[in-house]
Order: sequence, then C-alpha cells, then structure tokens
Amino acid sequence: MLKKVVITQPLPVDRLKSLSGQCTMQVLDGSQPLAEALSRDELSACHGVICLLTDAIDPPLLEAMPNLQFVSSVSVGVDHIDVEALTRRSIPVGNTPGVLVDTTADAAFALLLAAARRVAEGDRYIRDGQWHPETRWSPDFFLGKDVSGGTLGIIGLGAIGQAVARRAAGFNMKVIGWTPSGREVPGVDSVSLEELLLRSDFVSVHLALAPQTHNLLDAAKIATMKPGAVLVNTARGGIVDESALAAALDSGHLYAAGLDVFEREPIEASNPLLQHPRVVVVPHIGSATTLTRAKMVDIAVNNAASALLGQPMPHCVNPEVYAA
Ligand code: GLV
Repeated sequence: MLKKVVITQPLPVDRLKSLSGQCTMQVLDGSQPLAEALSRDELSACHGVICLLTDAIDPPLLEAMPNLQFVSSVSVGVDHIDVEALTRRSIPVGNTPGVLVDTTADAAFALLLAAARRVAEGDRYIRDGQWHPETRWSPDFFLGKDVSGGTLGIIGLGAIGQAVARRAAGFNMKVIGWTPSGREVPGVDSVSLEELLLRSDFVSVHLALAPQTHNLLDAAKIATMKPGAVLVNTARGGIVDESALAAALDSGHLYAAGLDVFEREPIEASNPLLQHPRVVVVPHIGSATTLTRAKMVDIAVNNAASALLGQPMPHCVNPEVYAA
C-alpha cells in the first residue's frame, strides 16, 4: 500500500510530480493548524508531512502521529518543529538550506538601506500628500544615516551572514562579526558580542532561533548598542526583545530598525514597533522571490521523495537518525 503524505498548504502541482506514484498526497488549504485540519484517524494514518514554517510540529501533534516517518519543511529554519522529539523517534527532518542565501542577504541589505535612508518613511510622506513646494528640497530635509563607510556587525556567520558581509564590502563598510560557534570567516573580524554591539553602526541578525538565542538581544544588550545604531533582523523575531527595541527607538538611543520577522506573525496591530516612523517592516519575505521559493519547494519535495524511498534526505537537520 502507498504511504500517505500530508502537504499542509497547496504547492505548485508540477513541482510535486516526483512524488506521484510514490505516495498518496493529501493537500490542505493551510487555514487551520494540522491537528485541527485532520481527524485523529487521518493523523494516525500519515507517514510523512511536507510543511511550512507556519506549521507547529509540536509534541501533541506528534503524539497523534504514531506512523510518522519523515517531516520535510519548506524553510531553512526549523524552530517550528520539535526536532529533538523527532530525533528520539529516529524520524528525519528535512529543510532547504543554501538556495535562499543570496535572496535573504539581499533582503537584509534592502532593509538596512531602507532604514538608514528613510525610504519607507519618504514613500509614506509623498503618498500622504505632505511633499509641498515649501518642502521641495532643503539642506536638512529628510536626512538619514550614511551606510557607506559605516561599521556593520553581523550576528551569526553562517551562509547568510557571510553573504551579507560580501554585500557590505561593496559599500566599503568595516565588517565585524560574532557567532556562537566562534567560527572565523574571511573578510570579517571576529569579536565578542559585547564588542560588536558597542562598535557597530549597523547590526544585522542571522542566527537560528533556539532556546539559547531567544531574546539574545534583550533590554540589557540593546542598551549597550552604539547610540544611533540601526538594527536589522531577517532571522527570527524571537531573537530580539521587541518591547526593548521599541523603547530604545523611542528614547532615541537607536536610530532605526529594519524588520522582516517578528515574535508573533502576523505582527499584531498594537505592536509598539509599528508606531515608530523609522521602523521599516516587511511581512517575513526574506526568501520571497519566484526563483528561490521554487528551489525551496523542489528541495523539500526531493527530501520527501528520498525519505519515501527509504534513503537519507539530502538536506536533513538531524542526520544522526540515520546512524541509529
Ligand atoms: C525562512 O525564514 C526560512 O526559515 O526559510
């Protein structure tokens, strides 16, 4: 009998071709959490899940899935998945690294530039009908912060952090970095997190969210950031204490922020960050280009296809399950 794979949101049909014949597919519409969208029997009959970063693959769900054999996420981050619980059950978890590196680094740099040069604020200014002849141009009109020649501190020196460093070199920036593993990266001066926060005119976050990185940039750390700095976060919202960030912007300690990710997504309308004119926000679109998303889906489908054939997933975050 064919194995059953649940796909938590519609994916382009032509990209699922390699799975047809290998399994039966149940495609959900994504309007409900998996545990609610499927009956107890449907969950129990499921051998594989292809999910997104919006799907919580947590212990209650996993308990209801005794026959689960793999999880393949269309994301590089896997903080929505209880990887430890799956590893204990020897179930591989697939992700989609590599293909979104440049796209996400571009997004980080776009936010950095937009926040420093007040791009979103200027756009709102014109659309709100505020650009009048008397404010047409003046030496002190809409001044921003220079990016070129500034110091960029990169928190997390994995592939995306390194791609951001390469972009910064083109802007003649001094690049310093910190990563929990202490990894050294060409073109980046490794410093302690404390020194990075103290020295950087711009700080860009590129770490995975994990218990150790949750609220890494808390009120105490934000207070040590260089006055007038700009914070960019395209990693995960939970790494930055949002109330502390809002307070630091309101007090004028920080100049601006460019944010693609938030503690709660979608961001709540009452989030104080939305009140600040120099916070540039976008809705978790770091990897959102047509080509990159197609590549991510292909990798996730390929991970699932390998798992269905009983082979190791090419991109697996817990490869130790294969040694067991
Ligand atoms: C995006 O945030 C991802 O983890 O792929």
